[in-house]
Amino acid sequence: MIPMPNTSTAPGSDLQVRFRDLITRVTGIQMPASKQNMIDGRMRRRYSTLGHSDLESYLKLLFEEDRIQQELPHIVDLMSTNKTDFFREPAHFHLLRNTILPAHNTEKPFKFWSAASSSGQEAYTTAMLLAEYQRVTPSFRYGILGTDISPNILEEARAGVYPQDVLRDVPEGFRERYFVPGQDSRGNPCGRVVENLRKKVRFEQLNLIHGNFPLDKDIDVAFLRNVLIYFDDATQCKVVSSVADHVKVGGYFFVGHSESMIVRDKRLKQIAAAVFRKEKG
Ligand SMILES: C[S@@+](CC[C@H](N)C(=O)[O-])C[C@H]1O[C@@H](n2cnc3c(N)ncnc32)[C@H](O)[C@@H]1O
Repeated sequence: MIPMPNTSTAPGSDLQVRFRDLITRVTGIQMPASKQNMIDGRMRRRYSTLGHSDLESYLKLLFEEDRIQQELPHIVDLMSTNKTDFFREPAHFHLLRNTILPAHNTEKPFKFWSAASSSGQEAYTTAMLLAEYQRVTPSFRYGILGTDISPNILEEARAGVYPQDVLRDVPEGFRERYFVPGQDSRGNPCGRVVENLRKKVRFEQLNLIHGNFPLDKDIDVAFLRNVLIYFDDATQCKVVSSVADHVKVGGYFFVGHSESMIVRDKRLKQIAAAVFRKEKG
């Protein structure tokens, strides 16, 4: 028989419902009953490590022995989808390099924020482009911030070590200039972002659903790509607005190509596919 994907909308056990609610409350990520199989699969590694044979027994410990605070970082790591690539959605990087950078007034540093940075590819792609621009425009100064909710993925981003197949998306000249070849702990070939570039990128934990971020309010370019899709309508609106609060008037706000329709903030005017310019404060 051909196995069918789980499309069940039965709510599941009380503990499963409480767990899904907890994930949504903490991260904003929607967790309908149809995702229960996915949750089970992703949580398996954690509950097995703690000696549980199934999720239900782990959830009893979580809720009945009040281990939520202790377990939360693991849960957040396992529940977030971290898919990303170097030069993902390349039209955005063309616009950055060919239109936005040449128009920047070099009297002020250029501030870039990757607001759901995952393992860092988006921030380091930008770092390479900004470093290239600085080679031909020595007065150009810049700073890059990457933020994400997931503590583990931020550690990966800070380390800046990527396997060979991930580096395939990086043009050869950039690979040679900005990565040091090496081997990971298993002897597989990998590349590490050169120290000078790593120093230009700061990674911090930040939960997008909380708003009022302790960040500058004159950011030139904010990328909020491929994360809004995980939130419900109200959370999407709130997150767009909170991130836009930190973009300067005249600055740019990017979302993923499938997320354009989500942006309805009156301060933002669409200028290209999934790209908005902040027109007023
Ligand atoms: C699919 S990745 C997108 C990575 C990158 N922006 C891109 O487009 O390639 C989504 C990221 O959003 C992060 N995320 C999910 N919920 C979040 C939240 N509430 N606050 C901050 N980051 C969140 C996840 O940890 C994950 O790394």
